[in-house]
Amino acid sequence: MQLLGTMPALYADLTVEQMEQRIEAIKARLGSRLFLPAHHYQKDEVVQFADATGDSLQLARLAEQMNEAEFIVFCGVHFMAETADMLTRDDQLVILPDMRAGCSMADMADIDQTEIAWEELTDTFGDSIVPITYVNSTAAIKAFVGKHGGATVTSSNAHDIVRWALEAGERILFLPDQHLGRNTAYDLGVPLEAMAVWDPLRERLVYEGDIEDVRVILWKGHCSVHEKFNVAQIEALRKNDPERRIIVHPECTFDVVQAADEAGSTSYIIDQIEASAPGTKWAVGTEMNLVNRLAATHPELDINSLNPYMCPCLTMNRIDLPHLLWALESLETDPVNIIRVDQETTKWATLALERMLAR
Ligand code: 13P
Ligand code: SF4
Repeated sequence: MQLLGTMPALYADLTVEQMEQRIEAIKARLGSRLFLPAHHYQKDEVVQFADATGDSLQLARLAEQMNEAEFIVFCGVHFMAETADMLTRDDQLVILPDMRAGCSMADMADIDQTEIAWEELTDTFGDSIVPITYVNSTAAIKAFVGKHGGATVTSSNAHDIVRWALEAGERILFLPDQHLGRNTAYDLGVPLEAMAVWDPLRERLVYEGDIEDVRVILWKGHCSVHEKFNVAQIEALRKNDPERRIIVHPECTFDVVQAADEAGSTSYIIDQIEASAPGTKWAVGTEMNLVNRLAATHPELDINSLNPYMCPCLTMNRIDLPHLLWALESLETDPVNIIRVDQETTKWATLALERMLAR
């Protein structure tokens, strides 16, 4: 059993057809012993083999229900596979086909920085803070949040969880995505003037008003994919193509979300687009693989990206046919790339996840 491996070079020499045939064969051989979930941002070449696709919340819920599968080959990024490992039994193996599939946003908060921030913030605000972390964070941060009475959120339940946290405490610390935190708190009626930003690199709170007025402390992190959408793109569209509806993910900046027609999680975006009348024109502010798939599967609609020069999420795209095949073929001999979170971390992180899943 290997926790971490390097893909043998021979996989890169196979043709697409050979890889697809071998993946089909191993899926048929393993049957219900194998479950293969894929996030909406995965490449088509991977999604075609998925047993289920979903957003972060749907995939977390699915992981909880996967009682039968011995192997869960998770086509997404590292924090999602960690979550799946924590929500499944110890005798189930969770595999990430390429260990380099991380998340640049999750990398913007580590546990040491979180502990330093907490010490500083509780010195200032006492025990009035409820910590909340976006699931796009390490298991160690989820555990920290669980231990301190907080919960995880995803982009599809952020409003419910943040509302709960604002009622449970005087203020919240929202990690690691300042944009999702700001967009959500604002929707719930918290004015921008009541939001401060914690800068983990300078180890200081950025806020200009009376400190007692702070209700939301936003960790200074962001998604490098969603930050590529801007208000100038929206203004250009409004001028040149005013009928096109603009829908964006809430990891986009506050200004972009305010200027768009709608904002929501990947599933929300899919649902809204699929419910629209034939001929509807959409500009979508989220990862390219999803936008391209929506455009290809809905020729009756006119769908394109809000940013025509958009880059894909490089880490999501690490999962490709060669890595998927390699991970699958290792299952029957010596499984590679096993994601295993230690018991202590799992205990506390699961508490934060369960507080979210119970709502
Ligand atoms: P959702 O799947 O919750 O919409 O999140 C998007 C994302 O960035 C996953 O990394
Ligand atoms: Fe992370 Fe952004 Fe990629 Fe999602 S899209 S995995 S938040 S870098």
